[in-house]
Amino acid sequence: MDLRLSDSVAFVAGASSGLGRAIARQLLMEGCRVAICSRNRERINAAKDWLIDQTGCSSDHVAALTCDVTNEDDIAGALEETASRFGSVNLLVTNAGGPPTGQIDDITADAWRSALELNLMSTINLSRAALPHLRKATTAGEHASILMITSLSAKQPIPSLYLSNVARAGVQGFAKSLSEEVGAEGITVNTILPGYTKTDRLSHLSESLNERTGQPIEEIEAGWAANSALKRIGTEDEFAAASTFLLSPRAGFITGVALVVDGGAVKSLL
Ligand SMILES: NC(=O)c1ccc[n+]([C@@H]2O[C@H](COP(=O)([O-])OP(=O)(O)OC[C@H]3O[C@@H](n4cnc5c(N)ncnc54)[C@H](OP(=O)(O)O)[C@@H]3O)[C@@H](O)[C@H]2O)c1
Repeated sequence: MDLRLSDSVAFVAGASSGLGRAIARQLLMEGCRVAICSRNRERINAAKDWLIDQTGCSSDHVAALTCDVTNEDDIAGALEETASRFGSVNLLVTNAGGPPTGQIDDITADAWRSALELNLMSTINLSRAALPHLRKATTAGEHASILMITSLSAKQPIPSLYLSNVARAGVQGFAKSLSEEVGAEGITVNTILPGYTKTDRLSHLSESLNERTGQPIEEIEAGWAANSALKRIGTEDEFAAASTFLLSPRAGFITGVALVVDGGAVKSLL
């Protein structure tokens, strides 16, 4: 199926590694021009080199930008730079690192604030800053879409991940509200909820649980796999394929949904 993405320009946040970088790779393979961002100049440049190597795309199809998504000025600057470099922005992927693990008595008020800045406010501020660009695109007859990366914890809270459980639920409320408001303008807004997927973040999560509980890392990861219907951990590419479809004009009648990509780990009916 042709996803009809070859004229698109995407801004993918949190893309020096993991799920964001995998989505950028897939979008480039579909012919998009893509701006990727992260906090770290060296890491984002390395990601750009990796993407060019992996996809064979021309270097002027990828822009590597430094932007801390908890900083509103950084966000505004990065989106402006993307639009001036590529002429427009019609696709936005909101993403960042995940918050630390912890139980109620371990988490300070500052940690709560930081997690909400990292995973909730960043999503809201990226969307606010991208909307004028997306509106310009739909006014010119182009497709426009926002995809927010959250977590399976938005559907089924994870006991050790209070910070994620709370921030992701907020993102779901924001996404649904925004999809209602901008639908008439032709902009789709969806969330995608990764289950356990092999990335740096997952390795840090198993190491942190190992430090807190003493349970061996292999056992922790085997436990995650055993809880899913497919009995395995997912790959970045599987996640990126579903994300790319949701961003494409082929998913043009899908908005306000929360798609779980978790190998059947969430046990609810809907
Ligand atoms: N992998 C999973 O199994 C899984 C499951 C459920 C939910 N998730 C969630 O999905 C998201 C992505 O996960 P991942 O596994 O891809 O994580 P990852 O491999 O750790 O990648 C996170 C990316 O976000 C960037 N980043 C972190 N903080 C940032 C900030 N303030 N501003 C801009 N960029 C920032 C990092 O780059 P720099 O360090 O270079 O800034 C990196 O490129 C996370 O929120 C995670 O909690 C992942």
